Amino acid sequence: MAALKALAAQLLAWVLVAAGCVVLGRPLVPSLPLAVVQGVLAACIGVLLRSERWWIAIHLLFSPALLAALRLDLPPVFALAVLAGLTFVFWTTFRGEVPLFLSSRAAADALLDLLPQQAGLQVVDLGAGTGGLLRRLAQARPDARFTGIEHAPLPYLAARLNARGLANLAIRRSDLWRRPLGGQDVVYAFLSPRVMPRLWEKARAEMRPGTLLVSSSFPVPDIAPEQVIEVPDRRGTRLFCYRM
Ligand SMILES: C[S@@+](CC[C@H](N)C(=O)[O-])C[C@H]1O[C@@H](n2cnc3c(N)ncnc32)[C@H](O)[C@@H]1O
Repeated sequence: MAALKALAAQLLAWVLVAAGCVVLGRPLVPSLPLAVVQGVLAACIGVLLRSERWWIAIHLLFSPALLAALRLDLPPVFALAVLAGLTFVFWTTFRGEVPLFLSSRAAADALLDLLPQQAGLQVVDLGAGTGGLLRRLAQARPDARFTGIEHAPLPYLAARLNARGLANLAIRRSDLWRRPLGGQDVVYAFLSPRVMPRLWEKARAEMRPGTLLVSSSFPVPDIAPEQVIEVPDRRGTRLFCYRM
């Protein structure tokens, strides 16, 4: 859906640019000014279509960057390599769900403070990214067991590297929606606003009473959290805590 919206915004913006050229009697020759105008129009259409913020930035830059790349006369294999790299990092983000961005160190410390002092505590990070957050937690709490679930190949490999030498940290390559949460005492997620209703349904169906769901940055719509932790980082991260 998000990819279709993006395609529609790009195409419509080019149609508008072409129509503008016809009306003004200007030749429709690819140039940087035209690409910039197209980018601005595509971004505006993206806003009207209520696309996520990162799509607006992509719309703004897409045509100017394409034009610049064409002028550099790069070999086709370069484009293929960039596409492959982005695919392995962002995986299914094009479907409009969850991109890769990482929790700050301060957020990891705030999460650490939230973990109950209970030996054998089970903690999972749904969408573990490169595993930096879990590494920090696993080092600080050798008595607890941490699991990271990540489906994008490159972040998964980075997380595996980050987990080296830590017997209480396991990284699994799988789809977080297929992982049962029944055995977890604390579930951490830093995903996107779009998936929060689905995550809440999953947590309610699978997590045991008394266990804790912590969502970084994105609250569950219409559900009051037990507490909200204000993290002193540059992003102004907030941790929304829901007791099952
Ligand atoms: C915003 S990042 C958070 C990374 C890490 N948890 C942190 O806080 O630093 C979200 C991660 O979730 C991963 N992800 C998104 N959808 C997923 C899915 N269905 N299954 C597993 N991982 C997923 C993305 O690839 C990305 O690495």
